[in-house]
Amino acid sequence: MHARVKCEGCHTDITEIPHKPAKKVDCLVECHIVEPSSEKKFSHKDVETFLATSVHGRLDNEGKEKKYVEDYPNCKNCHDNPLYRPLSFFKKVRPGISEASLGRCRVCHKKEEFVFQFYNHVTTRLHKSRNPLNIAEMCGRCHDDPALVARHELSTKAVFSYGETFHGKAASFLDERVPDCLDCHVNKGESVHQMISHKDPKASTHDNNRGKICATIDCHPSASAKFASYGVHAEFSLVQSPAQYFFTVFFIILTGCTLLPLMGIIFLDIVRRFFPHAEMGRRK
Ligand code: HEC
Ligand code: HEC
Ligand code: HEC
Ligand code: HEC
Ligand code: HEC
Repeated sequence: MHARVKCEGCHTDITEIPHKPAKKVDCLVECHIVEPSSEKKFSHKDVETFLATSVHGRLDNEGKEKKYVEDYPNCKNCHDNPLYRPLSFFKKVRPGISEASLGRCRVCHKKEEFVFQFYNHVTTRLHKSRNPLNIAEMCGRCHDDPALVARHELSTKAVFSYGETFHGKAASFLDERVPDCLDCHVNKGESVHQMISHKDPKASTHDNNRGKICATIDCHPSASAKFASYGVHAEFSLVQSPAQYFFTVFFIILTGCTLLPLMGIIFLDIVRRFFPHAEMGRRK
């Protein structure tokens, strides 16, 4: 991602070699690259403003620090290295990255480097850079931390409960078609840095809007609003989701009561087949 940024672009305090112990990198510094549409020096400052107004922002409406402010994510909490997929991923021919369309660029643009740089610049952003499991794992560092969940009065260990659903199960088998956290929690056209609480009427997950998440063309196009009322974050817990709890308990009992006797009968049948003359006790 940062191949074109020089070391000093981020490590701004390093001016000589050998250098003194380096300061922490500030992701919001202006670097020497110019953003071509505005011709201003490039920086990620806008992301900070997005983040500030999101549920992950550190300040409340009055500009005061929120309670337990150290629980809120900063850039480096979410954007650590292992999160990016191996570079080879980008080299793979996937929808949107194809030799055939590269051939088109070459018709007019003569420099291979130019073609690759700009082609990749756009196409890598036309699909997600991480699979649903990777994303869930990232969020899970905080959202599955029982202490954090309790401190912020959230109702669920969100990643755990996601893992209990069909979506989450498929994600754990590396399925990429299922929705990840961002598909549901980010309003279309906004960035992931603008997620808001489901209690906010503007949130994609607010009761009034959540039907639209399910009913997208890629997911369940004919879904009704009611379809979306199922508990996406239902845990197997009597307190959090009693209906699901009793439903699951019922099926555990039903399965047990059906299968255990059946297995007993099969076992007896096998015994009879292998030992046709076996007897319990002595026949009179
Ligand atoms: C896009 C910004 C960026 C660029 C460009 C960059 N780094 Fe870093 N570097 C970081 C971040 C972020 C860290 C993590 C530590 C931190 O938060 O300061 C880091 C950490 C390091 C560390 C480990 C420091 C430690 O305390 O463990 C070294 C060494 C390092 N970088 C060297 C380089 C060198 C050499 C280059 C140029 C080839 C370079 N970096 C380019 C952002 C960058
Ligand atoms: C809550 C976790 C989270 C935090 C905090 C966060 N990001 Fe992100 N950011 C993401 C995710 C996830 C994506 C990628 C979305 C995708 O791949 O679909 C992303 C995408 C980006 C992108 C676009 C990358 C691209 O090539 O398309 C930039 C730039 C970015 N973040 C910068 C920042 C900066 C700067 C900060 C700190 C001010 C920050 N992010 C804080 C989760 C986070
Ligand atoms: C039919 C010829 C043609 C094809 C095919 C073509 N381009 Fe271009 N491209 C041009 C021309 C001519 C310009 C300059 C247009 C202008 O400045 O308005 C241009 C401009 C660009 C620019 C802007 C450069 C700048 O510095 O402003 C980029 C980036 C670019 N093309 C990338 C691509 C990519 C990637 C492909 C393949 C997907 C592609 N082009 C296919 C003819 C083409
Ligand atoms: C299928 C859509 C969907 C997916 C996928 C999804 N969520 Fe949710 N999430 C929702 C909806 C809708 C709500 C609103 C409350 C509810 O119904 O539980 C919600 C609520 C939440 C809450 C607030 C819980 C509370 O009650 O305080 C958090 C935190 C959360 N989600 C995080 C995540 C994380 C992290 C992931 C990824 C592992 C994720 N969500 C995946 C739809 C989704
Ligand atoms: C560094 C920790 C951290 C990380 C990483 C993190 N979050 Fe959060 N998130 C929080 C905290 C703290 C809150 C509680 C905000 C509050 O108290 O209102 C929160 C709140 C939320 C909410 C709002 C819950 C509600 O009330 O409806 C959603 C949705 C959410 N996070 C989704 C995500 C997703 C998706 C990811 C991964 C891309 C993620 N978070 C990563 C710390 C984190």
